[in-house]
Amino acid sequence: MTLAPVLPLTFDVTASTAVRASVDRDAILADPGFGKHFTDHMVEITWTAESGWHHARVYPYGPLLLDPAASVLHYAQEIFEGLKAYRHSDGSVWSFRPQANAARLQRSATRLALPHLPEVDFVESLRQLIALDASWVPSAPETSLYLRPFMIATEGFLGVRSAHRVGYYVIASPAGAYFTGGVAPIAIWISTSYSRAGKGGTGAAKTGGNYASSLLPQQEAYEHGCAQVLFLDALEGKYLEELGGMNVVLVHRDGTLITPDSDSILEGITRDSILQLAEDRGHRIERRKVTLDEWGEGVASGDIVEMFACGTAAVVTPIGRLLGEGVEIGSADVVAGELTMSLRQELTDIQYGRVADRHGWMTRLDA
Ligand code: PLP
Ligand code: COI
Repeated sequence: MTLAPVLPLTFDVTASTAVRASVDRDAILADPGFGKHFTDHMVEITWTAESGWHHARVYPYGPLLLDPAASVLHYAQEIFEGLKAYRHSDGSVWSFRPQANAARLQRSATRLALPHLPEVDFVESLRQLIALDASWVPSAPETSLYLRPFMIATEGFLGVRSAHRVGYYVIASPAGAYFTGGVAPIAIWISTSYSRAGKGGTGAAKTGGNYASSLLPQQEAYEHGCAQVLFLDALEGKYLEELGGMNVVLVHRDGTLITPDSDSILEGITRDSILQLAEDRGHRIERRKVTLDEWGEGVASGDIVEMFACGTAAVVTPIGRLLGEGVEIGSADVVAGELTMSLRQELTDIQYGRVADRHGWMTRLDA
């Protein structure tokens, strides 16, 4: 027996009859913040064990109707993605490596026992939302429309097994800088009491539970005047993993970029791209275990000359200081590193279409 090929989904479109007035939208786009405002529409695709993916649609943004027994609410069977739509100077709208987000959503789905959404449907879901909400993509420098695809177990069933009914959604939120200080160096809090992910756990998946467990240590970070929390490995508590919502990269004075290699961190698309750009310039890249001691001693001796956080929301953000119980690395007056800022510039130049896209990373969403 041959299986029928799975065709790309077609979307039913219901345009909102109550879209925000352009004056209200423009006021939001003038100062979007991060994750506070949402566009006029959203995407939903349903999956069931019997029928697979079906009933793809775009409709007015609004609350979900969920069975209170939906397993996402009890057992956290959930995954998500984060990527941005960028407005180019000719008005066109583009996303950065959405195929990599589609692939990561599939890897997260495998770990959370959720179904794979084909890449073609993932990219089309973004296009469908942009077709209605393109006017929400801001054009001021360094602003974008943050796209948040997510998948949740919607079956109402309290037995602990993977759900037979799942929903995939995309919502979108205009975005300015993630950190209120813009791209100024941030301070990081090292969590020595809490871990983010253990061996064999869900650390490499983009799933809500990882973020839920980061909230308390993140609160600790705020209490110590730090913008983000840095997690160490759960087993020995000595190797760098990543920040609550970003990867971390150190720069050696010989120009080598060093970043933690671990199977319990999220493989960031921003980090991968930055390292590629650095490699293109002839920098050496080391993906390996890095101890906190190596970081501290390296900063003290002058071997580590720059450090930065990177991710879709944070883009590339310099790290000035690292604080923790009995630890203080760096100082409050550190200025943003030259290489950090020039890699940030090159990445955003590609994303905003200001330089040639030599790696073929950009996908147009509005055509
Ligand atoms: N690590 C974590 C825990 C994250 O939440 C993110 C953000 O998505 C990243 C790393 C960076 O990933 P990306 O560059 O794909 O956004
Ligand atoms: C992203 O960068 O897309 C994330 O999911 C991280 C979060 C801090 C918003």
